[in-house]
Amino acid sequence: MSFQRKKITVVGAGFVGSTCAHWAAAKELGDVVLLDINEGAAQGKALDLFEASPVEGFDSKVTGSSDYKAAAGSDVVIITAGLPRKPGMSRDDLLATNAKIMKSVCEGIREHAPNSVVIIVSNPLDAMAFVAKETLDFPRERVIGMAGVLDGARFRSFLAEATDVSVKDIHAFVLGGHGDTMVPMPRHCSIGGAPLDKFLSQENIDAIVDRTRKGGAEIVGLLKTGSAYYAPSASAVQMAESILKDQKRILPCAAYLEGEYGVNGMFLGVICKLGGNGMEKVIELDLNETEQKGLDNSIEAVKELLSSLEKLDY
Ligand code: LAC
Repeated sequence: MSFQRKKITVVGAGFVGSTCAHWAAAKELGDVVLLDINEGAAQGKALDLFEASPVEGFDSKVTGSSDYKAAAGSDVVIITAGLPRKPGMSRDDLLATNAKIMKSVCEGIREHAPNSVVIIVSNPLDAMAFVAKETLDFPRERVIGMAGVLDGARFRSFLAEATDVSVKDIHAFVLGGHGDTMVPMPRHCSIGGAPLDKFLSQENIDAIVDRTRKGGAEIVGLLKTGSAYYAPSASAVQMAESILKDQKRILPCAAYLEGEYGVNGMFLGVICKLGGNGMEKVIELDLNETEQKGLDNSIEAVKELLSSLEKLDY
């Protein structure tokens, strides 16, 4: 019997991409290819990471390239290529530039890794996932956006800090678009199985929900020259791991909806099952009036983004 390691290609050797490669290699998810139009950056960072493998003791080969041929045979492709936000910019300000980049990356992936499951990380996320789906022409199971795991992780970190409880025992997530209208779901959250109001006042919960919504901007404001990368890359790699190991984890992701929540033909953050076939199932929650209003508002924001996208020549 022959056994082949899984293969993960990460497109974009910037902070998010190279940190994705780092987590994926350290977790021995498979061999990792770092792809970037800047060949030096991709090869240099890949070689540097590979040279860390004897010290950290991971058996993952890490290589860098500027040629899409290097993605051939990938099981999972994580696309991080694109410009990040600067202070004062919204994710939506990146639309025109990143749509062009996303289209050209997906043309390369469609040609060389036509059987891969593709995870989109670039912003504005819900629109970039749409461009990717259109360009790749893959079934919806194999094009998934990373947003909810990150926004949920921010939510969980803040809850852990406020309650002095292990992050492992905090279950919390966010629905909707990856923007200012995202919908944290405190009613569906729990700490060790108990509802949040056993631990926190409504005022505290509201403050944490607000901080979660602005979590990306908080980091941009501190860094000043770019946006977050540790938590975004860890989140993308958690999704990749669930797919590569067929874990069938239930994670919030941006999925291409076909009727769920009454939405058709666009990406939105929902609860999904991720396994060997990619996005295997959307789990639809029963929402109360406030949650539904929040989600409707977020759906409108993503629709607006898509109509700006339609007007662009990318
Ligand atoms: C953030 C960016 C990556 O939320 O969207 O930090």
